[in-house]
Amino acid sequence: MSAFDPQRLREDVLATFAGTPDDRLRELMQVLVTHVHAFAEEVGLSSSERRLAVRFLTAVGQISGDARQEFELLSDVLGLSSLVEGGGTPAGATTQTLTGPFYAPGSPARGFGESMVERDDGDPPVILRGRVTDTDGAPLPGATLDVWQNASNRLYAIQDPEQPQFNLRGRYASDENGLYELRTIRPVPYTIPSDGPVGTLLARTGRHPWRAAHIHLLVSCPGHLPLTTEVFDSESDHLASDAVFGVAPELIVRFAPGAEGVDCATFDIALTKVSSAPAELDYISE
Ligand code: BEZ
Ligand code: FE
Repeated sequence: MSAFDPQRLREDVLATFAGTPDDRLRELMQVLVTHVHAFAEEVGLSSSERRLAVRFLTAVGQISGDARQEFELLSDVLGLSSLVEGGGTPAGATTQTLTGPFYAPGSPARGFGESMVERDDGDPPVILRGRVTDTDGAPLPGATLDVWQNASNRLYAIQDPEQPQFNLRGRYASDENGLYELRTIRPVPYTIPSDGPVGTLLARTGRHPWRAAHIHLLVSCPGHLPLTTEVFDSESDHLASDAVFGVAPELIVRFAPGAEGVDCATFDIALTKVSSAPAELDYISE
């Protein structure tokens, strides 16, 4: 019988973090070690499987850079991003979703109801409108809605040099009643980047890389937590198998013929009041 005692090893490792001055960092590291050890024990992780995992994570790091963040993508396809964003949604607020890699700051301000289509590809136009409120239902005038969406060739403007820089991007403001309205095109499904190690993982596990058709919104208003969310088209494919698990029933809207002769959908948004915004953590550069 082996004299090796995994429990003693785990306790030794946990003890090395016991003196961590920051309470939260100590908790994160000790629980992480506990779960990683339990995982390796439960599956009986072999040496070569552990080395393969290291090579995989190395490849994830090596393909990452300013223009690509494969670790984010890994977090997305494991459902971790959606768990943290959705699960972190404050009570009564609109469900948060992941931001994804195709957000770019600096979109142009657009007027109430203005179109964010800068190249006419003959795609079906739609109107998205709704009200921004706080979680008590009070309208929020002057909220900013930073909106971005892919074109019918499936690409976002920041991926596609053929599109005008600000195509399907715009910053809208809610009016004095908290209402917003924008004109765009019907969104289409597209694939997440799948030419790297995360794509290989999807292929090896028989998973597809498609996202259900959606429009992204980053909504902010002074005195409230900013919120990133997505609106999904009820008629889209892949709603039940979105590659990054962003779809939630409350985020699905139905585009139906409106008085303007254009399909319209309504999506109301609730933000959470705060006295100060939480700071972004930075353990790495300290
Ligand atoms: C997106 O919706 O833009 C997206 C999200 C996660 C991974 C890739 C793309
Ligand atoms: Fe997207």
